[in-house]
Amino acid sequence: MDEHGDLGRSVSVIGLGAMGLSIARTLLEAGYSVSVWNRSREKVDAAVAMGASACDGPADAFKDSTKVVICLTDYAAWHELIEKHGLHTAFDGVCILQLTTGTIEEVRQHAALIHEHGGRIAEGKVQCYPSQLGTSAASLLMAGQPEVLAACEDVCCVLAPEWMNLGDDIGQPAALSRAVVAGFATAMIGFVNGMAIALKAGIPADLFMQHSSTVNGVLMGEQVRAFEAIRDDDTKSTEASLNTWAAAHETIHSVAKSLGTNLVLQDAVQAVFQEAKQVGLGQHDISALVSVFCNEQGDS
Ligand SMILES: NC(=O)c1ccc[n+]([C@@H]2O[C@H](COP(=O)([O-])OP(=O)(O)OC[C@H]3O[C@@H](n4cnc5c(N)ncnc54)[C@H](OP(=O)(O)O)[C@@H]3O)[C@@H](O)[C@H]2O)c1
Repeated sequence: MDEHGDLGRSVSVIGLGAMGLSIARTLLEAGYSVSVWNRSREKVDAAVAMGASACDGPADAFKDSTKVVICLTDYAAWHELIEKHGLHTAFDGVCILQLTTGTIEEVRQHAALIHEHGGRIAEGKVQCYPSQLGTSAASLLMAGQPEVLAACEDVCCVLAPEWMNLGDDIGQPAALSRAVVAGFATAMIGFVNGMAIALKAGIPADLFMQHSSTVNGVLMGEQVRAFEAIRDDDTKSTEASLNTWAAAHETIHSVAKSLGTNLVLQDAVQAVFQEAKQVGLGQHDISALVSVFCNEQGDS
């Protein structure tokens, strides 16, 4: 509680890794009274140096504030803490802002546990670097009951002025954040794989980068085009059919193979094009792959 006894301006943070410490710092800079707990003491000292108060144990974090941010490596670490410190009895009446990254199943089981013990849950996924918190570049996806999100709105606004309310389906932040990261990760892996192919051919990295920047400059525009085709249910019209893509990819696969690069990624891409052709999408646009990916394996 702050010096005025105002619990509304008090927040506790459990977990002071790169993200948790930045959450604490951002709240302190916004004038919040912040109490903190972390397994290893040196990070607590760093937060105290910024103006936070140290909790003796994680249970104290729930006594200091009615809003408790959890930001740990994973849900296993949080469940370990709950069991080790008997935190179940501390949840009653408290709003937990769960910002630990987890799966849809972990998120749902966790929400059920908190509700069972009288707590309230605002589930969130941070989609930015710690240093971006509190700026317009911060990205925070949240879900929870409307009254719970309303109670946490001030904290969300401080952490990410443009935070997104995804409604009361608690699994949505995990789903949306994982979906976006899936695309990002695949694009990055593709970029590095392309670099490896170039290097194996004796092409310098800077020349690869120069040409890649020119060709890949159209990527965002192409993603918008694919989005509009999927949204408008018009994934047939195209300037480059999946048959054309598949034939071009055969040459990528062949070049990657003859240069002796690892083919794990290109084998997977080849399998995607083969499946698209098998289900009759050869004449369609690349955006038509959405129907391949929406089906479980063997359910096409
Ligand atoms: N860093 C980013 O750029 C980023 C971006 C978006 C989302 N996130 C998410 O934010 C969460 C935290 O990430 P981070 O980057 O802050 O990780 P981190 O720097 O590795 O910190 C992990 C935190 O979890 C604690 N912890 C781990 N195992 C524990 C256990 N068994 N018991 C108690 N505490 C335990 C650590 O305590 P100790 O200090 O004692 O080890 C530390 O406070 C993750 O879910 C991550 O996916 C991070």
